[in-house]
Amino acid sequence: MIICSESVTLSLDQFIAEHHPDKVFLLCDSHTYKHCLPAIHLSSPFVPIVIPAGEQHKNLLQCNFIWQTLANSGASRKSLLICLGGGSVSDIGGFVASTYQRGIDCIYIPTTLLAMVDAAIGGKTGINLDGLKNYIGTFQLPKAIFINPQFLQTLSPSEFRNGLAEIIKHGFLADGELFNYCRQPFPDSTDTNFWTSCIQANANFKQAIISTDFTENNIRAQLNFGHTAAHALESLYLVNNEILPHGRAVAAGMWIESYAGAQMGKVSQSMLGLLKTAIQHEFEKVTYSDTDIEVLNQFAGKDKKSSLGKITCSLVEEPGKPLTLVEIPDDTFTLAWKAYIHEVI
Ligand SMILES: NC(=O)c1ccc[n+]([C@@H]2O[C@H](COP(=O)([O-])OP(=O)(O)OC[C@H]3O[C@@H](n4cnc5c(N)ncnc54)[C@H](O)[C@@H]3O)[C@@H](O)[C@H]2O)c1
Repeated sequence: MIICSESVTLSLDQFIAEHHPDKVFLLCDSHTYKHCLPAIHLSSPFVPIVIPAGEQHKNLLQCNFIWQTLANSGASRKSLLICLGGGSVSDIGGFVASTYQRGIDCIYIPTTLLAMVDAAIGGKTGINLDGLKNYIGTFQLPKAIFINPQFLQTLSPSEFRNGLAEIIKHGFLADGELFNYCRQPFPDSTDTNFWTSCIQANANFKQAIISTDFTENNIRAQLNFGHTAAHALESLYLVNNEILPHGRAVAAGMWIESYAGAQMGKVSQSMLGLLKTAIQHEFEKVTYSDTDIEVLNQFAGKDKKSSLGKITCSLVEEPGKPLTLVEIPDDTFTLAWKAYIHEVI
């Protein structure tokens, strides 16, 4: 159940009244504790659990803290864990809930745009294992997802744009209504009417894909569009001790993969043009040099989606026509990395 409205408290109260958990716990991070928790006014008592904010805390140490807090506060198999936060909080909270006493009920209240349209949907939970991203995790759906677009108003512009990249990706995968959202610059986060319908449509789209391929055996892989190149770019930045925002990386990644696909005759020229316009509205260009390209190809070949070192991508032939598991030769990918930095994109 995914409900996008401005009355998250009402939805939570109803859920608790219907399911009567013996205890309610609410997990948030230090930022959502400050910005989002004050908007939740539950009728029933709950135990707050606060972890430090950020991806670097999506780890076993914090899991242990949450498991210990649940155990010390008397959580049983009939307890409920509410996760209030971005993808870091739903990933770690979902993982803890799916493993505590072999699984307790969990609800997500995503508070970033990325989590509202992507991370909270689909039942992948996970934590990082040292430098290995999302290496430990489970597939477990939350009992409900309650989305309030008003939480977007305290997000930083960069965090907000991370979600826009996934919305643009969905638009190209799905065409129709979702593509229409990406035809002009997006409004700011205060346009609650726009965001309520845009988020609900995007969440429903991801949910529909998940329901036919929960454990990513085939069509779920289309959601990886842009992500092979994006992860390579993010890794290159990390090597230089810099952080490239995920949204900027995905925006660049979609164009780079599409350019490579176009060289192979798998992606139309009009698709490339439409993509360029959509990402230019919102994203600053990612920078790297010709001498980085060999390393970028190595990272792309090592991506989880690639096998035997061969670069493998999900592409979009034209809006509404996704392609999965396309192997792209290294020299074709090299042309695409070059085109991105040397062409006006
Ligand atoms: N499970 C999945 O299918 C899936 C899919 C995509 C991404 N992810 C995961 O999601 C994570 C990224 O998600 P994210 O971008 O939401 O990151 P995040 O949860 O780390 O949030 C980003 C920052 O925004 C802050 N924040 C959250 N909501 C806020 C609000 N309303 N106002 C002010 N600040 C707020 C957070 O405290 C944090 O500092 C990654 O760990 C990624 O691996 C998971």
